[in-house]
Formats: sequence, structure tokens, C-alpha cells
Amino acid sequence: MQKVYLNGEMVALNEARISVMDRGFLFGDGVYEVIPVYSRRPFRLFEHLRRLQRSLDGIRLANPHTDDEWTALIKRLIAATDADEQQIYLQVTRGADTVRNHAFPKVTVPTVFMKCDPLIPPHRQEFELGIAAVSASDNRWLRCDIKSTSLLANCLLRQQAEDAGCIETLLFRDGFLSEASASNVFVVRDGVLVAPPKTHLILPGITYDVVLELATRHGLSHELRDVTEAEVRLASEIWICSSTREVRAVVSLDGRSIGTGRPGPVYEKMHRWYQEFKSAATRAS
Ligand code: PDD
Repeated sequence: MQKVYLNGEMVALNEARISVMDRGFLFGDGVYEVIPVYSRRPFRLFEHLRRLQRSLDGIRLANPHTDDEWTALIKRLIAATDADEQQIYLQVTRGADTVRNHAFPKVTVPTVFMKCDPLIPPHRQEFELGIAAVSASDNRWLRCDIKSTSLLANCLLRQQAEDAGCIETLLFRDGFLSEASASNVFVVRDGVLVAPPKTHLILPGITYDVVLELATRHGLSHELRDVTEAEVRLASEIWICSSTREVRAVVSLDGRSIGTGRPGPVYEKMHRWYQEFKSAATRAS
């Protein structure tokens, strides 16, 4: 039976218990991180821990651990998991109160939960053929920069893709691209990589930063600016990216082909750079 971390202990998954009064359960009052692990080494751990701190600050919850403590816990989980490629799920909620009250408890004892699972690499076919996406109006709250466990809107939006036999849902707010239900989005226009800037309307993605670093390193022109819906639909390439999906080419949107209907030449380069970067980073750390 898989072991998970819960409030200081490693326990069997089917024995892990939290209170029904936990605010994560009642209100979605918590934050989380998903950290990929390659060759048994966490990828961009420092950046994930910085974003965790930012999310905790955003919901006014004290960080229950120092970076060193988080690192030790994560290493423990990695060691307890068989696969070389893994994904760590880490969640901190505001814990349980004795009454259901929207206002914070007088004394907060956070609930810390962590789980490690094998990271199943996307099918080669998905990298080679690209993926299909649908679009929807971004009806989430205005603090999408907080990696909150309150994900109902994201779940409903993602299900629209699932219902259409697609992988992701691209989101537009007031005629502009924001991100996707569980990933950031880039488009290529006239050979230039374009993405919305980091604002309260998108999650500051760790993979998004890696993509931009690689673009800079390899001299690929890029711009961070508002991207209109029309620009997305007429783009020669669209990519989504996240810690679990890396970078994937979207080759159809709402049933219409993007570019040639195959992953484009800029994507092919980024995919290669990303794989090289990953191998180098996991060798070096
Ligand atoms: N999701 N935007 C949203 C709304 C996300 O949920 C995610 C990641 C991203 C990409 O962020 P990063 O590159 O740091 O993974 C962007 C994770 C993987 C999830 O919820 O499972």
C-alpha cells in the first residue's frame, strides 16, 4: 500500500484521515504545488517552494515548514517511491475548526498532505501529433495567481475538454487569452513566441518560466503582452505547458486546425531544448 505524508507522519494511503471540519474540505481553503521529479531529483524545487510561499502569503497562512524541512520531506517521499520519474503533490490547508465559520479560526493548525506518484510520460504520439483543445470563457475568480485548492471552476472548464474528447480547455477573458484549465499557454505568430504576462489572471507557471528562459538562451524572439482571441485562433502554433505535461503543441482548437494541423517547427525546437535542459538540470543538481 502506498505511503503518503500527513501532518508529520508517513501513513498508508487508505489509513490517511483528516477531520471533516478541515477548511480544505469545507471551503477549499488551502494551496498546493505539483513538483515533477526526474531521475529521482525534484525539478525546479526552489522555484516551487518560492511559489508555495507566495500562495501561502496570498491566503494569509503561515508556512508550516522552512525550505530545508520541505526539501527533507520531499526527499523522503521520493525515496519511498519506486519510479525514477515522479510527481509530488503537496497541499497545505488552514486546518480544522470546531465550527463552520468563513472567518479564520482563532488558532490555526494547518493540515499538511503530500503524495508521490509515478510521472507517466505523455505518449510519444502526443508529442509527435499534438493535442486537441477546446476554448471557453474564463469564469474563474480574479486571483488566479494563487495556486489554490479551490479548483471547482478549473474542473468544470477542464471537463468541457474531456466531454469533447480533447486534452485541454483554453481560456479567454474579455476577448484576451489568459491560460488553460491546468496549464499556461503560448502562441507563435510570425515566428515570435507570445504569451500573456504574469498578472493576477494567470498562474505564474514554473514551466512557463523555463520556456521563456530557453527562448532567451536560444535567441528565439518572444513577447509578453495581452494576446487577443483572434490572434490565438490565427496563430501558426499554440502550446500548453505545465509541470506534468511539459510543453505540448495544440494542433486543433474547437475542431479547427492550428497552422498545418501538426506540431510546428518552433515547437519542435522548444521540445528538444526542453528535453536537453531537463537532462542537464537533473544531472547537475
Ligand atoms: N497545474 N495554470 C494552471 C491553472 C495550472 O493548474 C497549472 C499547473 C499551470 C502550470 O504551472 P506549472 O508549470 O508550474 O506546473 C498553469 C498543475 C500541474 C495541477 O494542477 O495539477
